[in-house]
Formats: sequence, structure tokens, C-alpha cells
Amino acid sequence: MKLSSKLKKLLNDQVGLEANASHKYLAMASWCAVTGYEGAAGFFFAQSDEERTHMLKIIHYLNDMGVPAAIPTTKDSTTSFRSLETIIKTALKNEQEVTKAIHKMVEISQTEKDHSTYAFLEWFVNEQVQEETKFETLLQKFDLIGRDKIAINEIDKILASQTTAAEPAA
Ligand SMILES: [Fe+2]
Ligand SMILES: [Fe+2]
Repeated sequence: MKLSSKLKKLLNDQVGLEANASHKYLAMASWCAVTGYEGAAGFFFAQSDEERTHMLKIIHYLNDMGVPAAIPTTKDSTTSFRSLETIIKTALKNEQEVTKAIHKMVEISQTEKDHSTYAFLEWFVNEQVQEETKFETLLQKFDLIGRDKIAINEIDKILASQTTAAEPAA
């Protein structure tokens, strides 16, 4: 089995996107921790770990295809955020961009009749549905519960209850 140069490049780029997501979520977690949003901090530290497992999944797939992954440097992350709501909005936007990149690879793997890459990407397609839904639902909480201190504290608790341990990379 051989990967086309196009898919090789896009999968490698995806390693970078997942690494960037992991870094962004780390910065968000750190800001939440010092702002007193304990629930959100735990949520984003876990979210960062999850993105790292995504990155590893792709690195392992590239390796299985005989390709050494080029590990990219990540862009500098912001250390200061306006609010918890801004963070959730930024996270959703980031996930939407990742979804676009995944879908692009799915389309190319279809065109190229690369069934193994197509099958490999299926997990990511489903994962992105869950990721987008998760952040959309969280964002709705600000309209539903409010934006005052008590409401934010409530939302922080919701984030704590949604913190999941990252599954090990395959
Ligand atoms: Fe991801
Ligand atoms: Fe994600």
C-alpha cells in the first residue's frame, strides 16, 4: 500500500493541526486554572490530551504506511483570554476547521480509491461530529443559564462533569 504524495502531505498537515489544537487547549486550561475556573481547567487539560492522541493516531498511520511523520513546530498560543465564553467559541471554531481538513482528506481518498486511508479517516469523521456537538452544546449554556458570576460558576461545574480521560492512542 502506498500513500499518494497529496495524502501524505495532508496527513502530515493534520499532525500539525492536532498538535496545534492540543497546544491551544493547554493555553486555555492554564488560563482557566488561574482565573478560578477549576472545572474548565480540568476539561481543557483533558481536551489537550485527547488532541495529542489524535496526533499520535495519525503519526502511527503514516508509519504503518512506511512514511516517517514530519513533526511540525506549533504556533505560539495566546496566554490571555477574554472570557470562558470566548474560549468555548474559539474551541468550536478550531474544531470546525479540523472537520473541514478531515473532510477534504476523505474526499481525496475517495477520488484516489485509497480504501485504507478512507477507512482510517472514518473514526475522525465521527469524532469531529462529537467534538462540534460538545462545544455547540456548551456554548448554548451561556444563553440558557446566563453570563453572570453564578451562571459561569454553574457552567464551570458542567465542564467539570464532562471531563473525560483521553483514550490511549491506537
Ligand atoms: Fe482532534
Ligand atoms: Fe478536537
